Amino acid sequence: MAKIFITRKIPESGIELLKSKGHAVEVSAKEGVLTRDELIAALHAGNYDGVISLLTDKIDAEVMAAAPTVKIFANYAVGFDNLDRAAAKEKGVLLSNTPGVLTEAVAEHAVALLISAARRIVESDSFTREGKYAGWDPLLLMGPELKGKILGIVGLGRIGSRVAEIASRGFGMSIIYYDVKRNEQFEKDLGASFRAQAEDVLKEADCISIHVPLLPDTKHLVNADRLKLMKKTAVLVNTSRGPIVDEAALVDALKSKTIAAAGLDVFENEPALAPGLAELSNVVLTPHIASATIEAREAMSKLAAENILAALEGKPLPAQVQ
Ligand code: GLV
Ligand code: GLV
Repeated sequence: MAKIFITRKIPESGIELLKSKGHAVEVSAKEGVLTRDELIAALHAGNYDGVISLLTDKIDAEVMAAAPTVKIFANYAVGFDNLDRAAAKEKGVLLSNTPGVLTEAVAEHAVALLISAARRIVESDSFTREGKYAGWDPLLLMGPELKGKILGIVGLGRIGSRVAEIASRGFGMSIIYYDVKRNEQFEKDLGASFRAQAEDVLKEADCISIHVPLLPDTKHLVNADRLKLMKKTAVLVNTSRGPIVDEAALVDALKSKTIAAAGLDVFENEPALAPGLAELSNVVLTPHIASATIEAREAMSKLAAENILAALEGKPLPAQVQ
């Protein structure tokens, strides 16, 4: 029997799976993110064999050192910028994530943000609730149609590809993309075209959706200079990681109408928002819920548990992070 710690309450499927294999599962009783000291204290006291961590837990060398019996930190997220991969390698600790199972959820959310920002859904909702609707108006709250417009995908992983597919097949958008790797099959399937520079996607696209992981060289990939390259009518969507966009520069760009609108599910210093962001009517904000479908969150729980089980049994992990 192994002892597994989960740093915060998650959906049951993974917990049940671990228990069904006879393992003891302890879930942090705190309603919220453990502070760094609380996390270290919990791990230090527990003699755990495995941990399910969240994207809000920073798992670095110090945390790993507090948990010398832990063989694996299984991240309940596809992103793993909160895990120190070099430290894990040095200590021989395994890391895993939950790719694949949240692709649909995040892609659907990116599309929801795109439509909401383009068609001013949230602004229109507030307008209506505030009693400002005084009758049909030929010029009221207009926005761009998506059909025939160019969607630029920055980062063509599973999620970026799925967003492109929905936009192309569903709305008849044409697709351009930037990635470190070209994907000719994808180009053939959707009639999409590759751009070797992210700048070219930003310049040419009417709508842009970001799907790169957070790495030292993707931080502020969208900065003040690159926002200036974008069309004045452009709509920017970010469901990846907040620091990929310079949020203060985005506030300026939205205020000065350098770009038309944005839809954001992630923020540079979560849960804080850049000053001025929440006051803008041309941005739609959601609190990092892109993967929050019931289906995806249960599947993430199960996959995190499967990673733990594989690590305990010395088998290849379903989704190892290296
Ligand atoms: C969510 O942001 C994730 O990385 O799963
Ligand atoms: C993440 O799952 C991605 O590949 O986009």
